[in-house]
Amino acid sequence: MGQLNTQMVSRIFTNLFDNKPPQVITRAPGRVNLIGEHTDYNEGYVFPMALEFQLLTAAHRRSDRLVRIHSIDYRKTVEFSLDGPIRFDPVNRWSNYSRGVLALLLENDIKLSGIDLAFSGNIPQGSGLSSSAALEVGTALTLQALNGFSMERPELARLCQQAENTFVGMNCGIMDQFISMMGQKHHALFLDCRSLEYRHIPLELNRYRFVICHSGVKHSLVDSEYNKRREECNTGVAVLSQRFPRIKTLRDATLTQLNACRKELDPVVYRRCRHVITENQRVLQSIDSLNQNDLMTFGRLMNESHDSLRDDYQVSCDEIDLLVEFARNFKGILGSRITGGGFGGCTVSLVEIAQISDFSKQLIEYYQNKTHITPQIYISTPAAGAEIIGGK
Ligand code: GLA
Repeated sequence: MGQLNTQMVSRIFTNLFDNKPPQVITRAPGRVNLIGEHTDYNEGYVFPMALEFQLLTAAHRRSDRLVRIHSIDYRKTVEFSLDGPIRFDPVNRWSNYSRGVLALLLENDIKLSGIDLAFSGNIPQGSGLSSSAALEVGTALTLQALNGFSMERPELARLCQQAENTFVGMNCGIMDQFISMMGQKHHALFLDCRSLEYRHIPLELNRYRFVICHSGVKHSLVDSEYNKRREECNTGVAVLSQRFPRIKTLRDATLTQLNACRKELDPVVYRRCRHVITENQRVLQSIDSLNQNDLMTFGRLMNESHDSLRDDYQVSCDEIDLLVEFARNFKGILGSRITGGGFGGCTVSLVEIAQISDFSKQLIEYYQNKTHITPQIYISTPAAGAEIIGGK
């Protein structure tokens, strides 16, 4: 993990903003999704865990309406007033996640005072490990602590998601913000994205660990292709619901119903729907398999999830497929798949502890030879969700 600590963030904050120490310091984690991909915006199931990679914020309430936000990593500050309309910043794009949260809170008639805020993180950007959700969540928790409005955490996570949808223009589901807000140490989180009911499931991995591998391919296509996938799912629902009016989202559909409508469906839309429907089933099966301590089955479901994302949902890429294939052929690996939105980013594999070192070495060599990119390997225990960790 990169250099990141509270003292450093606090010191930079104090030097930068009128020599006042921060009143609130928060941490918000990144996440890795273990299974349940592209199901959240179809009101289905997901199973992510929070990571030790995190983002720290330090902040102070101002008595006026000014907002100053400083990115320690980019060494840049933006300034604007809460009185004017909060605008999208096409230059300092990083600031839009915080801007969006502020704008959404104001739209919800929450009274806010001005704020000075500085942040720094070690969640690799463009990796699909949710650095943007962590910034939204860190901003939201800070604003809540400084302004004292009451809102339950799931509701705050929803607001962060809406900020990303309406302000940033990325039509993401609720998963990333929810796990960053609600994660629990040593647990992954099973979430029903329709009701927002959730369960923390202990991750007893015995002699296995989840190993994350960053392909080094930034998932830049994600926004446009992602939004396109969402539309294809909606097109599928429009067709399915004509014959089966109870189907409001793909969460409600079964494979039998989908197949009954196959002739009316565009073949691409059919495959998108098939992925979502089977992926929801896999999440439910994977929770059962963990409850029965059956990691072999969990690994198999991870493999099936990847194949479906590669072939039906078409959100993988050659580099990711190389990593997955290599992992699957390696001794002591139970399963491997792409994680997150897709088109690059990371894989997650369930690896026997005794094999991790050999696996990592050989994977790096293999991948470098094939692609001339050095992959990054991360291992993290499941971390806690966002929290306030300091301030005066
Ligand atoms: C991105 C989005 C999430 C989710 C995943 C795919 O990470 O932010 O809401 O849709 O892609 O599972």
